[in-house]
Amino acid sequence: MFDRLREDIAAIRERDPAARSAWEVVTCYPGLHAIVLHRFAHACWRRQWRWLARFVSQLARFLTGIEIHPGATLGRRVFIDHGMGVVIGETAEIGDDCTIYQGVTLGGTSLTRGAKRHPTLERGVIVGAGAKVLGGFTIGAEAKIGSNAVVVKPVPAGGTAVGNPARIVMPAVSRPKEPKHEGFCAYGITPNADDPMSLAIHGLIDHASTQTQRIDEIVAALERLGARVEALNAVDGAALVDLKRLCTSMDGKTEERTESLAR
Ligand SMILES: CC(C)(COP(=O)(O)OP(=O)(O)OC[C@H]1O[C@@H](n2cnc3c(N)ncnc32)[C@H](O)[C@@H]1OP(=O)(O)O)[C@@H](O)C(=O)NCCC(=O)NCCS
Repeated sequence: MFDRLREDIAAIRERDPAARSAWEVVTCYPGLHAIVLHRFAHACWRRQWRWLARFVSQLARFLTGIEIHPGATLGRRVFIDHGMGVVIGETAEIGDDCTIYQGVTLGGTSLTRGAKRHPTLERGVIVGAGAKVLGGFTIGAEAKIGSNAVVVKPVPAGGTAVGNPARIVMPAVSRPKEPKHEGFCAYGITPNADDPMSLAIHGLIDHASTQTQRIDEIVAALERLGARVEALNAVDGAALVDLKRLCTSMDGKTEERTESLAR
């Protein structure tokens, strides 16, 4: 139990830039309180102590403003930030490492008792403030739901859905294959990653790097044949200085790439 609590606290500190200490998290984060109480309510629910489970769930709602039905299944390191107004339905399933902001509803649209009425969030999904995800479908791993979106259809893994009704603005397939960042992006925002200017500059730098490598190979081959090639290095150096100045403001990765280009 304490291991779970410890990893919950660590997850909150990692994902909320405002969290300054473990003590602050334990005492001031209603999302953590709601999840701890939900674990107890869910255990009661599974033992068929239905009234006690509902009562604990309502007590948690009274204390935190977060309503999680005791039948809902939550994975590890789920973080409900701020939390006020969050409602999570009976058949909802939330995977490991999901993040949910205030005002989110994981709700149902059908009244059929015993059916899967609420959504499933796979691992690492981020649901923005005020979003409503309605129905028994799946939101794929690492997907992002924009604040105030109303999602009524499945979202593919890695996709981003915004608006009402939600549309996919960034399908996973159109994204670069390499991971664009390490760790969690607070609020679901990926700095610079989808900025077309940044992507174009990175593409040019990669291209220049490959060209430089090939030119080096050609120069080496020419030198082996007895030719002397000196002017190229000076031109290269000057061009690199300009390129570096142009790109430094884009992001840290650019600087690393120009350095590797210089080598
Ligand atoms: C949806 C979200 C995850 C997208 O972040 P991102 O990957 O950085 O994407 P961008 O900001 O580049 O936006 C992509 C497009 O979606 C639009 N968009 C972004 N968020 C939107 C939203 N909530 N509703 C409607 N459209 C939105 C942008 O205008 C942009 O459209 P365009 O391509 O036509 O210009 C992010 O905007 C979001 O809503 N995060 C939740 C934040 C939150 O709830 N914070 C609460 C903290 S208390």
